Amino acid sequence: MRYYLAPLDGITNRLYRNTYHRLFEPFDKYFTPFVSTDPNVDLNRNEIEELLPENQLDQTLVPQILANDAGEFIKTANAIHKMGYPEINLNLGCPSKAVASRNRGSSFLFHTEALDRFLDGIFTHTRPKISVKTRLGKYDPNEFYHLTELFKKYPMVELIIHPRVQKDYYNNTPNWDMVEEVLPQFPFPVCLNGDIFTRSDFETLKKRFPTVDRVMLGRGIIKNPFLIGEIKKGLSYDFTKISRFHTEMYQGTKDAARTETKVLNVMKGFWTPLLPLIPNGLSYDRAIKTCSTLQAYDALIQDLLDQLEAHGSLKTESALPDL
Ligand SMILES: Cc1cc2nc3c(=O)[nH]c(=O)nc-3n(C[C@H](O)[C@H](O)[C@H](O)COP(=O)(O)O)c2cc1C
Repeated sequence: MRYYLAPLDGITNRLYRNTYHRLFEPFDKYFTPFVSTDPNVDLNRNEIEELLPENQLDQTLVPQILANDAGEFIKTANAIHKMGYPEINLNLGCPSKAVASRNRGSSFLFHTEALDRFLDGIFTHTRPKISVKTRLGKYDPNEFYHLTELFKKYPMVELIIHPRVQKDYYNNTPNWDMVEEVLPQFPFPVCLNGDIFTRSDFETLKKRFPTVDRVMLGRGIIKNPFLIGEIKKGLSYDFTKISRFHTEMYQGTKDAARTETKVLNVMKGFWTPLLPLIPNGLSYDRAIKTCSTLQAYDALIQDLLDQLEAHGSLKTESALPDL
């Protein structure tokens, strides 16, 4: 089984990816949050910083592009390829209103003729290999029958499917029935993505799709960075790692020369999903959310980390066989 880290815009930046990769069970592939194409520049300064190979730890990284104009995609993809990346991922999944309003991400799925022309253009003229990350459609999962016909025509290295439609946003449950139905038609590997939050979620999916050999996880990792270690090796949760994880994320966030308020906001976003995992963590939730100075934050987190230190490792169930 191959494990991929999902792109999470605003979360899985290089600081997060590098820190995770150093401390926890590494992923086989990491996908960057989307780079939005711009007719005037290949990449802006921040995107270059995020993508420069020397700014990444030793890991397989796939940059992702959001576009609906073939020329813009090709220009940006070829510039990223020159930096040393052999694969680019196309975002056809983003449900956000800002993105959808310009018919990009999952909104593009509804414009199948334009999408077909776009795919024809990019698969003809892009130098790096292309993988695609998609939802099932915009309004109705049945849109995926036609999209399947369309995707099959193109030589993508893999198709990552998050089986929701745009209007689901993150509500409802992934429609695995549709994936099961169309899966045999794809001539390239398919990667499953969506709602893997526990080892048991993973096992259920693995049982249902015995021929699939790759999964992508996003929110499950933000809530539980030990999850891949638990799935692959039955590793225990070494809570002392949370302290190192926090130290590196906090330092990196402060180094990005942000204001006190920005640093606090980022660190609140770091803790909120993690607290339910941590013994007694939720009792810190309100205090962290209402913290207004770094001095108060430092004292609060020191207290939290001291009590975590006392907890050490929590054993989980015995190891699963390597899948
Ligand atoms: C905050 C947030 C940001 C996201 N940003 C991106 C993105 O930049 N590109 C993308 O393809 N998907 C993005 N996604 C979707 C995830 O990659 C993933 O497909 C989705 O969360 C379902 O997987 P999960 O249930 O494992 O989280 C984002 C999701 C969230 C919650």
